[in-house]
Amino acid sequence: MNALHQRMQELAARRGIDLAALAAADTGESPLGTGWTVDDPAAARREMAEAVLAAEMRGTFANAQPDHPEVARWVSELIEQGPDAGDRLPWLTLMGATGRGKTHQAYGAIRALSMAAARRPGSYRPYRWRIVTHPELSAALRPKSDKSHEYALEIYEVADLLLLDDIGAGSLTDYGREGILHLVNHRYVRRLPTIFTTNLNEDGLRDAFGDRVPSRMNEGVIVVVDGPDRREAIGEWR
Ligand SMILES: Nc1ncnc2c1ncn2[C@@H]1O[C@H](COP(=O)(O)OP(=O)(O)OP(=O)(O)O)[C@@H](O)[C@H]1O
Ligand SMILES: [Mg+2]
Repeated sequence: MNALHQRMQELAARRGIDLAALAAADTGESPLGTGWTVDDPAAARREMAEAVLAAEMRGTFANAQPDHPEVARWVSELIEQGPDAGDRLPWLTLMGATGRGKTHQAYGAIRALSMAAARRPGSYRPYRWRIVTHPELSAALRPKSDKSHEYALEIYEVADLLLLDDIGAGSLTDYGREGILHLVNHRYVRRLPTIFTTNLNEDGLRDAFGDRVPSRMNEGVIVVVDGPDRREAIGEWR
């Protein structure tokens, strides 16, 4: 392995990504010139998916499972039918007040879908899932001198599965609203699996984005996550 390969492997490893295993999972052998092969590429793909989930989902949602019955049903239908097969748009919108567990369900759904993709026979490339909050997206879209905002949407447009967390949270600028409308429409026309969480109801979404966003969400599944504020139950503000 030359110095460049070594450096790339180290950088990827720091993000929890094993480049050699990834390449080997596709071809059965490593193109990095290490000369080793993987006996069980399917197992390597599963381990890879688990490693990425563990690296990216540290903290609060590290063990989140999609245990809400309607969320569980959405996940299993998507796994059974695949994103292209069903009549219904493969979108899930989780609505509800703060602390009800919307983000928890969304992370759980991503974990289940990512592992199902890794287990699917003949899946030779990594399943690209992404999570972004609306405030993070707004910050990324804010015009900057390095022009990075011009490319900020791309990774969210092409993701196999996207969680747009907290849509409608925080202040909306014109470019923020434009960006979200563009992203939503991009994923709508391609029928790309997308999960939204929001504190807003349908009217609130309409006020924030106009009719086009809630109208598209309606073609998918909408789940109201209610119950008590779970943070109140576990927190200290009593
Ligand atoms: N099903 C669950 N099992 C165990 N803990 C949960 C569950 N759902 C939520 N929690 C915990 O409750 C807290 C609030 O959940 P979460 O952040 O998902 O709420 P939310 O509805 O997204 O709130 P917000 O609207 O403020 O973003 C978190 O600490 C989370 O780990
Ligand atoms: Mg949340």
